[in-house]
Formats: sequence, C-alpha cells, structure tokens
Amino acid sequence: MTEAGELLALVRELRARAAEGDLQVGPAGAARPAPPKPEPVEPPGLDALKAQVAACRKCPLGAQRLNPVFGVGSPKAQVMFVGEGPGFQEDRQGEPFVGKAGQLLDDILKAIGLSRQTVYIANMVKCHPMVDPSNPDARGNDRPPAPDEIEACRGYLEEQIRLIRPRFIVTLGNVATKALLREELGITRARGVWRELRIEGLEEPVRLLPTFHPAALLRDPSLKRDVWTDMKNLRTELSRP
Ligand code: URA
Repeated sequence: MTEAGELLALVRELRARAAEGDLQVGPAGAARPAPPKPEPVEPPGLDALKAQVAACRKCPLGAQRLNPVFGVGSPKAQVMFVGEGPGFQEDRQGEPFVGKAGQLLDDILKAIGLSRQTVYIANMVKCHPMVDPSNPDARGNDRPPAPDEIEACRGYLEEQIRLIRPRFIVTLGNVATKALLREELGITRARGVWRELRIEGLEEPVRLLPTFHPAALLRDPSLKRDVWTDMKNLRTELSRP
C-alpha cells in the first residue's frame, strides 16, 4: 500500500472508532481518547420511586410502619429476589432481609457467587405488616401482607422491575410466588419450575423461579436441599449469555 493509501485507511479506522464512541475526533480531525462515561448510580427513576414509597398512604401500613423498606442491591442486577414484606428488623433498619432469614439469604447468595450488592432484593409490600400496629416494639407481631395491601403496593414492585430490568426473578415463598404470578399454586408444587412473568411496558417476559422462603428453611432445614437445587439452576442460567 502507498503511504497515501495507508494514511487513508488509518483515517477511515479512526472515523469508524469515533462513530462507535471509542474515540473523539477534534475539529482538525486529531483523535483523542474519549473521556470515560460517568456510571449512573441508579437508573433514572429509582430514586424518585423510593421517595414516592416513603410518602405512600395507599393502604394503612404506610402510617403504621417505622421505616419504608424499598429494596437493596444493584440497580443493574441480573437477578431480583422478591420476598413477602418487611418484618420487625427490616422495619427498624429500612432494608429487606436483615433478620435471621436475611442472614440465611446472604449465605445462599454467597454459595452461588452472588451477594446483596450484586443482586436486587425487594418485597411484595414495602411496609411492615403487623398483627398489632399499636405496638410496633412487640416481638412476634409480624404477619403476612393481606391481598388488598399487596394490590396497593404491586405498582411499586412492577416499576422496580421495569427500571432494573432483571433477567431473572426468584420469588421467595408462597406469598410472593402467588402474588406475582397471580396464581393459587402453592410453593411446594411451584418451586423449581421456571415461569414467565409479563410486566406491562417490558417487551420480553422476565423468567421467574419460585423457591422456598429462607424463613421456611429455618423452620425446616430439610428444605435446604431443594433450594440448593434451585440456586444451582439459577447459577447455570446466569452463566448463559
Ligand atoms: N421476610 C420477607 O419476606 N422479607 C423481608 O424483608 C424479611 C423477611
């Protein structure tokens, strides 16, 4: 190739790379490396949604709880874990799964190379459902969320799913599985079977895997085997491009 030909080829390559955002080409055509793009901390909208949840009074739980429990983890998570609702500890700390069941969830995540920082963890409802809301300091005061409380809160979880766009959702236990799939199938039959969850506004359905709630494993350790099978299954799917 002649010198002029080589120069022309170089200019074409630089233009192509500039078009791909690899390089910036100055006014005189001189190439310089593009400055690193700032990483968004959260996708736009997640912060605003969190503020909406903090002010929410769509059901009575909003006025009863100590702290809203929005969710925790990476806003770019490939997998989202969904539980039923905050308990005593979560209400105090404003973070999901921080009690005994949460510690077990951390161990489960660790066993498949994940962590609370790399996944996203949320609940069907964002406020602590209490048996006796007049006594938030009582222990043993937790209860599952009622159907109308789940419906009042559903839009927030769906918006989290739209903003985070996880590849996979793992529902933890009966309440979250039935509520998200809008089905009456119990967790013992539902667990371990991949499902598809359609969320309005998302083109593709999200693949959903039901498994047992970590609190159920604390009550009955024999369930750990099935959860381990489900987590290995999840790990395999995560490793696929
Ligand atoms: N159980 C849940 O379902 N969610 C929590 O955040 C804690 C316990």
